[in-house]
Amino acid sequence: MTDLHAAFQTPHPSGQEETLPSTTSVVHGIMRCEDVNVYYGDFRAVTGVDLEFGRNEITALIGPSGCGKSTLLRSLNRMNDLVDGARVEGGVLFQEENIYGKGVDPIEVRRRIGMVFQKPNPFPKSIYDNIAYGPRVTGMKVDSMDDLVEEALTHAALWHEVKDKLKQSAFGLSGGQQQRLCIARTIAVRPDVILMDEPCSALDPIATSRIEDLMNDLKRDYTIIIVTHNMQQAARVADRTAFFTALADETTGDRTGVLVEYGLTKQIFDTPADQRTEDYISGKFG
Ligand SMILES: Nc1ncnc2c1ncn2[C@@H]1O[C@H](COP(=O)(O)OP(=O)(O)O)[C@@H](O)[C@H]1O
Ligand SMILES: [Mg+2]
Repeated sequence: MTDLHAAFQTPHPSGQEETLPSTTSVVHGIMRCEDVNVYYGDFRAVTGVDLEFGRNEITALIGPSGCGKSTLLRSLNRMNDLVDGARVEGGVLFQEENIYGKGVDPIEVRRRIGMVFQKPNPFPKSIYDNIAYGPRVTGMKVDSMDDLVEEALTHAALWHEVKDKLKQSAFGLSGGQQQRLCIARTIAVRPDVILMDEPCSALDPIATSRIEDLMNDLKRDYTIIIVTHNMQQAARVADRTAFFTALADETTGDRTGVLVEYGLTKQIFDTPADQRTEDYISGKFG
């Protein structure tokens, strides 16, 4: 048992180790949120989230629009630092270290915990330079940049489509190819975790299915945390699913995002414990 494993074991109330397999507790955790609150100015967009992510798993964050999925996702690699007025309270632990701790370099956090956005956003550069950019600016020691570029593109299932046009602009690629390029760019700096915020919402079904296949391949080497509004997608790709909703404050009416339920995807979809989860996944609201 690794230290990490030990650290994530919850002590059994009787003092004995839990022997029954639990559907909700993550065995090999890599990251967790401890009572995370995220504010935009005075507005609390996310409240009290406790959530642990399994290593080499795909975790889906689902829930109605505005329930704070993107906000929470951005708090996992300090992307909210770049958003005006945003503030995170509580702990986000990556391999037991608080990424908001004193002396932690947010650039290094974002290298180890990369992000892919909703709309493919390649740099206005060649395909090759899109991949080489991260390793160059982070000063990564690289024996052969050509090899690294090939490896990242191969890993992102794009190499065969682009190997003869590496010097051409990334903007010449289709939307699906651009998104795979963005994934290749993210993995070029060798992260541990890849955050994805609705990465397929701008893509057609075929391109979407290619990205889903790719995610499945990538989880051998990476941990993936994906926000999706597409419940079929969550059901297809995610090992675990977290369902969020927005609760309205009785006096102010302000809505804040809370985690309702978290578990193995199959359990969340087949036998949700909370009525709100059931209503959402059966399409009654959201
Ligand atoms: N940059 C921002 N400034 C102020 N409020 C924001 C900002 N981004 C999101 N919000 C608000 O925070 C809440 C959660 O938004 P978001 O995280 O985008 O939800 P989701 O991704 O689940 O649709 C919403 O009420 C939204 O209006
Ligand atoms: Mg969002």
